[in-house]
Amino acid sequence: GKDGYRHYMEKELHEHPLVIGQTLQRMVDPATRKVVLPELPFNLADAPRAVMTACGSAFYAGMVGRYWLEEIARLPVDIDVASELRYRNPPLDRHSLGLLISQSGETADTLAALRALRQSDVHILSVLNVEHSSMARESDAVLGTVAGPEISVASTKAFTAQLTVLACLSIAIARARGHLDPLREEELVSALLDMPTRAADALAQNEAVRAMARVVAEARDVLYLGRGSLFPVAMEGALKLKEISYIHAEAYAAGEMKHGPISLIDSSVPIVASAPYTPLFDKTLSNLQEAKARGGRLLVFTDTKGAERVSAIAEQVVVLPHVHDFVTPILQVIPVQMLAYEVAVLKGTDVDQPRNLAKSVTVE
Ligand code: F6R
Repeated sequence: GKDGYRHYMEKELHEHPLVIGQTLQRMVDPATRKVVLPELPFNLADAPRAVMTACGSAFYAGMVGRYWLEEIARLPVDIDVASELRYRNPPLDRHSLGLLISQSGETADTLAALRALRQSDVHILSVLNVEHSSMARESDAVLGTVAGPEISVASTKAFTAQLTVLACLSIAIARARGHLDPLREEELVSALLDMPTRAADALAQNEAVRAMARVVAEARDVLYLGRGSLFPVAMEGALKLKEISYIHAEAYAAGEMKHGPISLIDSSVPIVASAPYTPLFDKTLSNLQEAKARGGRLLVFTDTKGAERVSAIAEQVVVLPHVHDFVTPILQVIPVQMLAYEVAVLKGTDVDQPRNLAKSVTVE
């Protein structure tokens, strides 16, 4: 049942700390505090590059994973939505890593992309929540997200579990490729192990998120902005808002706004920005100042350090704990999903069963 929550989505949002913790338990040895992957039937260090694919929220998780794989493991990554990848016929180097991400393991487009990748000499590693699924059967290896059953059509907890697996995988590949010294691994793993507690802190911001939701619920269009690994977080926010509140939303890389969408900005289009204090913060802040100067209403997800700088120009802020740059997307996506939930509740939509959508899309 819903355990006293209004909807399955609300219950599942509150499971973020638990599923991050359970997923870490599978992937981190508590004694050595090192990432330990299950035995794989191929050598990760041999992959010259990775090709990632998924649909919807799982695709955005993959986009965050790309930043980590490139930055930490120095592995070149190509990523595309499954419905495009399967028809692109990209040239693939031997022993490339085919990385698929899916909650259900049954999404027809992702399964078709898996089969297309099979035509090349690619090792297929799938990040799946349902471990007895079609994709599991057709993969060379599976890394499980330990999110438990997800009932709400809109995905929530599976996303942070996917990010947790991709973060651990990036660490393991970085080590295998000789790009990670033990001290740096210790630093990254510590940041991950801190996440269940920090995720609970994020959930405790629900009053501030609700206040933001009252502004968003009145809007017809909403712009989501983020940079770097927070850009996919913005995309996830826009998708979730569209999906369950039926409000039009678009996500842009913060720096891309001036190349077009800035012409949309006026006081009727709220701007939801994910802007924690990372090395890219100042760049994002100047994009937000540009939006503000054009009458934009800024609703900002940030952290304790970012709040000092952004509060002066923002109409509302949601302040999360300051964490290591590496894990910021895992933390920041939580209130972004909560915002979509609270807006949908205000709108009175069928939150768990949004119109026209099914939990797993088994047609191409
Ligand atoms: C978004 C959502 C969908 C799924 C997508 C992929 O909230 O639920 O976008 O993420 O259909 O589904 P899986 O992960 O089952 O392959």
